[in-house]
Amino acid sequence: MKKINRRQFIALAGAGAGGAFILSQLWERGNSSQISLKPAINLPSLYTSTNGLLSLDLEASYRSVKLGDIQAYLLAYNGQVPAPRLEANPGDTVRIRFTNNLSNPTNLHQHGLHIPPTGRADNVFLNIQPGKRFNYEFTIPKNHPAGIFWYHPHHHGLVAEQLFGGLAGLFVVRGELDEIPEIKAAKEEFLVLQDFALDGEGKLIDSAAHMSIMSGREGDLITINGKPEPSFSLPAKGLLRWRIVNASPSRFYRLSLENHPFYLIAIDGNTLAAPVEVRELLLTPGQRVEVLIRGDKEPGQYRLLNLPYNRGGMGMMGGRGMMGGRGMMGGRGMMGGNSNAPIVLATLNYDSPVKTVPLPTKLLSVPTLPKPKQVRRFELNHGMYPGMGMAFLINGKSYENQRIDTRVKLNTVEDWEIVNTGVMDHPFHIHVNHFQVISRDGKPEPLRPWRDTVLVRRGEMIRIRIPFRDFTGITVYHCHILDHEDLGMMGNLEIVR
Ligand code: C2O
Ligand code: CU
Ligand code: CU
Repeated sequence: MKKINRRQFIALAGAGAGGAFILSQLWERGNSSQISLKPAINLPSLYTSTNGLLSLDLEASYRSVKLGDIQAYLLAYNGQVPAPRLEANPGDTVRIRFTNNLSNPTNLHQHGLHIPPTGRADNVFLNIQPGKRFNYEFTIPKNHPAGIFWYHPHHHGLVAEQLFGGLAGLFVVRGELDEIPEIKAAKEEFLVLQDFALDGEGKLIDSAAHMSIMSGREGDLITINGKPEPSFSLPAKGLLRWRIVNASPSRFYRLSLENHPFYLIAIDGNTLAAPVEVRELLLTPGQRVEVLIRGDKEPGQYRLLNLPYNRGGMGMMGGRGMMGGRGMMGGRGMMGGNSNAPIVLATLNYDSPVKTVPLPTKLLSVPTLPKPKQVRRFELNHGMYPGMGMAFLINGKSYENQRIDTRVKLNTVEDWEIVNTGVMDHPFHIHVNHFQVISRDGKPEPLRPWRDTVLVRRGEMIRIRIPFRDFTGITVYHCHILDHEDLGMMGNLEIVR
């Protein structure tokens, strides 16, 4: 580690809260020829807005990070996995002074936020080179829904790798949902689900060399908020509010809590009209859910399980991954995709019986969209692509930066039929504007909550209805199994006046 001289020390001491950030810059410069390992910095893990402004420094770098007791070497924002949580209100301005200290180009995507896809906002075409800075700035619309959104890298070709390294954080918009009295009375917890593939020394296994990138890379170390198997306790009033994001590049989570149903209140940052009781939650990569849990059972310990889910493709790809779990490397390796036994993710502990406060009976109203102006069809499949070999395709084409695949008009509503003719499931995600699922295989959808990512199972046809509002410019839609996106399953969407 490089010594700091007196003048630099004084500069640091004067920098206050920003000191740790500058410190990391100094070290970085001293070792710029190679990736250097720095001790994790302890910046606060929550940034909130004051007087309508959320302002922060955010740095991406390769670092030593503790995942519970496991010493790991990961990609981190401000040294933290998951990244700091950002919180703002509708109408606030957000300023992120971003520095890329990774060894590859990157950028920032605000998944699910309804903000411009251009300029300094949610612009996934930015290419921020190693060692470079970029100032992001955008305003959250005054009528933006309250809910959970998240930020992650979106440099095409490197998205899965950078997310699998640990780069992901929550972006919470506060508002109406938080003010519903029964929800206010619940204890709020955030659960960021991530998975990692580490070798015996805690280093990331080079996934690019691995066959599992075809089905989508998964690691067998699963963490919630950066910890394997954390425990949650029951609050005094007995009601929990879990706000969950699947921040894994490919892994699906099928969650169930022993003896407890979930009361679903929001999907992808959008509040439902009323709570819906469910036994299981299926979260594809990118998706978020919010649930209430009533702690009205016998005192004890209840396990949060991840149940098996088969997302397809294994037959074609020839079995589980090459490493088959934590064998060979003596670490926590890669799995090809699907495992067969439930996995314990966390526990919920009650000490004594509690009388729980009631559940809300209604939440926020969800508008009905007008009939569409246009119907389009998108076929998801994979195949050989000229010059690329195996590729993941939308309407027979692999992603090209310069090609506009879909052009739509601002202030119109369209129906998109998304058909999966392949052998793997694909969660389809659209940036900037949310949509409602209208039907599945021709069967009308009973509930029509807003969402930004929908699972299209193999052989399935999903019809969605989407309005294009407020912002023009070029953005993207893609499969949120990020290896599939990096391998071509993405299209450019231009919204014109
Ligand atoms: Cu979270 Cu374009 O994705
Ligand atoms: Cu997104
Ligand atoms: Cu896919």
